[in-house]
Amino acid sequence: MTTIQNLRDQIEGHMKVIRKYQEDIENLITYWTPGGKILNVGCSTGYETIALMWFLRANCVIGLDKNLSKVHTHALELKENLWVYDFKLPSNGLVEDKKWWENEVPRFLREGHFPIFLEEDISQFYNNFPQFKTLFDLVYWSKVMGQVHEFQKRPAVISAIEGIYYMTKFDAWVIVEHEHVGNDLDYLQEEFIRVGFEVIDEGCEYFMCLHKVRNPEHS
Ligand SMILES: C[S@@+](CC[C@H](N)C(=O)[O-])C[C@H]1O[C@@H](n2cnc3c(N)ncnc32)[C@H](O)[C@@H]1O
Repeated sequence: MTTIQNLRDQIEGHMKVIRKYQEDIENLITYWTPGGKILNVGCSTGYETIALMWFLRANCVIGLDKNLSKVHTHALELKENLWVYDFKLPSNGLVEDKKWWENEVPRFLREGHFPIFLEEDISQFYNNFPQFKTLFDLVYWSKVMGQVHEFQKRPAVISAIEGIYYMTKFDAWVIVEHEHVGNDLDYLQEEFIRVGFEVIDEGCEYFMCLHKVRNPEHS
């Protein structure tokens, strides 16, 4: 039987990994408007998506991945652990457990407020969800672009960029951090500019911060 201590250990384990994203995500605060909507592309385990909710204090975050199996064994397992802990606490927990729950577990997690996870291919996402037109204020994709380029080729990357253009608000921010794939992704910047973004910062060779300066209605 899972004891309350086992559950606490498991929850702590998940939160420890989520905290590893803290520094990178807190650096995004400049590009974040409280109350806005975030799309996390290639969310993998879903920890990055939860970190966006936690460290940007965001209410509405969608985590998207073409394969959600890791979300089920990470983020959604955490959700279940939290739910069971909350259920067991009144009868099985000690004062110390209650204190830990209230002081260490962020409120949104205690209240079961989680991101929405969607199993979708980013290159097809806008075609499948045209109702998401001009919805997002911030799009965050880290270590995904190289995979799209490698496995689905350049037309898929271009289709993903065009989809992001349609799904973001005027003034939205897009943060792209990609894997090292030689010069293969040199065309990224040019494609973002072509659809209507301005490059604000190229922090390093594999990082790009883009600002949307043209709307679909004006193109
Ligand atoms: C290296 S992982 C990303 C890790 C995650 N951003 C993080 O740092 O925790 C790359 C993810 O991108 C996803 N992916 C690759 N191509 C994709 C596509 N076309 N659409 C959506 N997700 C994709 C993969 O399934 C994988 O989970």
